[in-house]
Amino acid sequence: MNTQQLSDIRREYSTRSLDEADVDHDPFAQFGRWMEDALSAELPEPTAMTLATVDGEGRPSSRVVLLKGFDSAGFVFYTNYLSRKGQEIENSPYVALSFFWPELERQVLISGRAGKVMPDESDEYFASRPFESRIGAWASAQSTVIGDRAELEAKVSDLRARYADGNVPRPPHWGGYRVVPGRFEFWQGRPSRLHDRICYTLREDGWAIVRLSP
Ligand SMILES: Cc1cc2nc3c(=O)[nH]c(=O)nc-3n(C[C@H](O)[C@H](O)[C@H](O)COP(=O)(O)O)c2cc1C
Repeated sequence: MNTQQLSDIRREYSTRSLDEADVDHDPFAQFGRWMEDALSAELPEPTAMTLATVDGEGRPSSRVVLLKGFDSAGFVFYTNYLSRKGQEIENSPYVALSFFWPELERQVLISGRAGKVMPDESDEYFASRPFESRIGAWASAQSTVIGDRAELEAKVSDLRARYADGNVPRPPHWGGYRVVPGRFEFWQGRPSRLHDRICYTLREDGWAIVRLSP
């Protein structure tokens, strides 16, 4: 592998377009349309999104999480509140989300403010998760250093025994965040890098829609 080979990788985007006249005036509805397309196309992980946060010095970090719901109130994902991302959000709630659906030659970028969902919403989602995932939420002090894999597996065994009746309560440090967007960008790949970028920004009188240069 050399960088020459990487720099030779180049793909033309030519299957679709995105026009101001066709987009929904409501960015949540527009997102819904594109998510429907991603679901219908049976992409491998249509709900996977990169979540970017910043630490106290403004240094960014990012990781993939799964979108578990969205509506006009925002975009919800679940995680460990004590994880790196959880701590960063508590310190600085402005985050960015990005979806990349290569098969559709589309990307969606969202930025906004994250806040914890209500505890009963987290309870309801936690209860819907498979037993092993609920055990995992207790077993993993996410983002902390552990000695080895065996340590984690021993913890899981203990927890399986403790909750053998299947009633695993939600850990208090595990739950959802809702990202309330202030900006959306819908990106559609076009030939010769002349992509379509339609951007929604929240103003006092509603969402303003503009086209950005590719
Ligand atoms: C496809 C995929 C989906 C993931 N979904 C989640 C998720 O929904 N919640 C979560 O906490 N971590 C999820 N992860 C793991 C995160 O990327 C990350 O490793 C973890 O949350 C720790 O991040 P942090 O140390 O930056 O807080 C997922 C990873 C991948 C690759």
